[in-house]
Amino acid sequence: MNLDESPFLLACRRRPVPHTPVWYMRQAGRSLPEYLRVRENVPMLTACATPDLIVEITMQPVRRYGVDAAIYFSDIVVPLKAIGVDLDIKPGVGPVVATPIRDAEGLKALRPLEPDDVPYVTESVRALVGELGATPLIGFAGAPFTLGSYLIEGGPSKNHDRTKALMYGDPGLWHAFMERLTDIVLAHLRVQIDAGVSAIQLFDSWVGAVAVDDYREFILPHTRRIFEGVADVPRIHFGVGTGELLGVLGEAGADVVGVDWRVPLDEAARRVGPGKALQGNLDPAILLAPWEVVERRARQILRQGQAAEGHIFNLGHGVLPNTDPDQLLRLTELVHSA
Ligand code: CP3
Repeated sequence: MNLDESPFLLACRRRPVPHTPVWYMRQAGRSLPEYLRVRENVPMLTACATPDLIVEITMQPVRRYGVDAAIYFSDIVVPLKAIGVDLDIKPGVGPVVATPIRDAEGLKALRPLEPDDVPYVTESVRALVGELGATPLIGFAGAPFTLGSYLIEGGPSKNHDRTKALMYGDPGLWHAFMERLTDIVLAHLRVQIDAGVSAIQLFDSWVGAVAVDDYREFILPHTRRIFEGVADVPRIHFGVGTGELLGVLGEAGADVVGVDWRVPLDEAARRVGPGKALQGNLDPAILLAPWEVVERRARQILRQGQAAEGHIFNLGHGVLPNTDPDQLLRLTELVHSA
């Protein structure tokens, strides 16, 4: 079988598939004992810059589950670190930024990203493409709003209030900020595509905090520019809590719209509109319930997914750290045999 005929890429292109393709956001991570073993005493950002570890961790869920796609092991803040932003990923917390960016002076920290800033990305993607064979590799980046929130707040945030204060209070600075992040995201995705990834996913994880009219004004133009710039591969667009935004996300230019667990896929297909495949959307917490519950819910999602022009099975957000890997193995087999 060749890569172009892989169920994942066929579904992205809304073509007929032999079975529903499946992969899991955060499939390579803390729920796997083999991951914890290789990460012992290696800080997250060190792991993200070490090709041997990147390749091994990316391959782990492919070996264990037989998923239809690999996702490149990294983090959304890696390109920011690579241009010299002083940040770290704190275990159990997430990205923390030493000097939050809140004014025009702070923006100067966001210089353009050059391919030479991330040589380990090129090296690891090339090695992975060779090792994966007919299994596609998904590259990814954080979207400008979600990256901007970490940079402005200085770390994880519940309400993104400083971020919104800048957006509403100084639209000129906001757009300049988003422009710079858009350039960095585009450069980072280009490095991954040039090295051989088969598709990309843009994670705008926290954009569900924004109202639809504000999305149109403050975020949509930048997202559009990103998707236009990477039109040579299938593009997936994902955020959490985006039920009210699904229509406008359908206009942003991706081929596939990721849906969290709050909106059933048949309703999501109606909101997103024609010409898109959907990805999702089992609540990751359901994997903590007995298998019978997982099975019933997964079958329901497979039925609802038939309303979409293409369906890639996934969770509604990332795998939770306390997930039993055997549940994901059984789920993968169920999706493949349904
Ligand atoms: O999906 C995969 O398996 C690939 C790896 C991946 C990671 N981060 C590894 C990681 C991906 C795709 C990401 C993306 C990411 N990072 C997003 C978008 C996806 C989403 O979940 O919405 C966001 C918002 C981040 C920022 C971030 N980095 C968070 C919120 C955290 C978790 C903090 C925690 O420990 O609870 C991180 C750290 C992180 N990224 C870890 C991993 C494996 C944990 C690192 C550690 O504990 O040492």
